[in-house]
Amino acid sequence: MILKDKKILLGVSSSVAIYKSLELVRLLRKEGAEVTVVMTKNATKLISPLLFSAVSLRPTFFKMFTQEKNYLHLELVKAVNLFLIAPATANLISKIASGIADDLLTTAVLSSSCPIVIAPAMNVNMWQKKVVQRNIEKLKADGFYIIEPEEGELGCGEIGKGKMAEPEKIINFVKALIFEKKNFKLVITGGRTEREIDQIRVLTNRASGLLSVLLAETAYQLGYQVTLILGRSDYYPSLPIKVKRAFTNEEMLKAIREEIDNKTILIMNAAPTDYRMEKSFSFKVKEKEITIKLVRDIDILKELKNETLLLKVGFSCDDQDFLEEGEKKLKEKGLAICVVNPAETISSEEIKAILLFENGDKKELVKMKKKDFALKLLEEIELWLKEKHPIQ
Ligand SMILES: Cc1cc2nc3c(=O)[nH]c(=O)nc-3n(C[C@H](O)[C@H](O)[C@H](O)COP(=O)(O)O)c2cc1C
Repeated sequence: MILKDKKILLGVSSSVAIYKSLELVRLLRKEGAEVTVVMTKNATKLISPLLFSAVSLRPTFFKMFTQEKNYLHLELVKAVNLFLIAPATANLISKIASGIADDLLTTAVLSSSCPIVIAPAMNVNMWQKKVVQRNIEKLKADGFYIIEPEEGELGCGEIGKGKMAEPEKIINFVKALIFEKKNFKLVITGGRTEREIDQIRVLTNRASGLLSVLLAETAYQLGYQVTLILGRSDYYPSLPIKVKRAFTNEEMLKAIREEIDNKTILIMNAAPTDYRMEKSFSFKVKEKEITIKLVRDIDILKELKNETLLLKVGFSCDDQDFLEEGEKKLKEKGLAICVVNPAETISSEEIKAILLFENGDKKELVKMKKKDFALKLLEEIELWLKEKHPIQ
């Protein structure tokens, strides 16, 4: 029960996705949270506040002016750990982005000092409207957390982006955000390293760098101090994350050593070169045929085996016996968690991973988008830290 004793205020507006809010209340309570629901007046026309009270086992609020409580908007946000607004209509998003406080929910938003997470839900045309996108960007810049809607069949029957994220995904986000992590520093490696064949050509691999960038961006949004050590990559973070470039195994090892200490969580997602030329050519090779000899390159994880870190996470990617290879890597490289994934993951937007833990536990995950996996892995890391190594 990772949310035990946490107080969550759930804001609900009048989207067709409102039925998912009931499931959100149930899941949050299952994790131990105390959930209070505050609705817009329009939302009460779609679902009765009584039903929310029946699921949350607490009163549900929507009236601003009552005889019983004069400062309800202030009372609601007192000692709240997180304010989750799901679903958020285009109307509500626009009001919050403009600082409007004309009902209980929007006034509570302005009165709150806790993190606010917004899960928009709307028709695809509404979502694509420039004014809505401007408001979303405004909210992000103001420090609100936005859980992007998904693509699919919408409540109105149309197909496109606008579907509220599934409750489980929202809960994972909330859990990851709420968990204390002020002392943690996250160093993520990503992309691929390379070795010269000659002055023009290189030996490298197909890693795209996508997952490391998603991991860095997600961790950054969750409040970690993040450093991304990035080799060659087809992707680059769009958030102001500290990025160090490192194109060979030596450069990557040096960059990691400069960044880590005993409070570091190191996620080694990069695909370093396994082999290098025994001797590279100092000129562009033009012969019809050449014979080259490859020798093992520096094994970065092995070099770091004896470093004292808070947590070391490695990745194992193979085309066969990948589970055995992962188990071997977990032990030999002194990892706390090894993410095992088949070779087809490389250059794909999806990943089907198995997580191996140092205590022998194993979690087989369903195939998912790398973006969702980034959040899932961070959540698993936080759970592992909380259960095995509680921070003082
Ligand atoms: C059945 C129904 C479903 C709706 N679904 C959405 C929706 O998913 N997203 C949205 O932005 N507006 C939706 N609307 C429109 C909003 O309810 C409307 O803009 C309303 O004024 C918003 O009020 P509120 O933000 O105060 O709840 C829906 C309306 C109806 C009648």
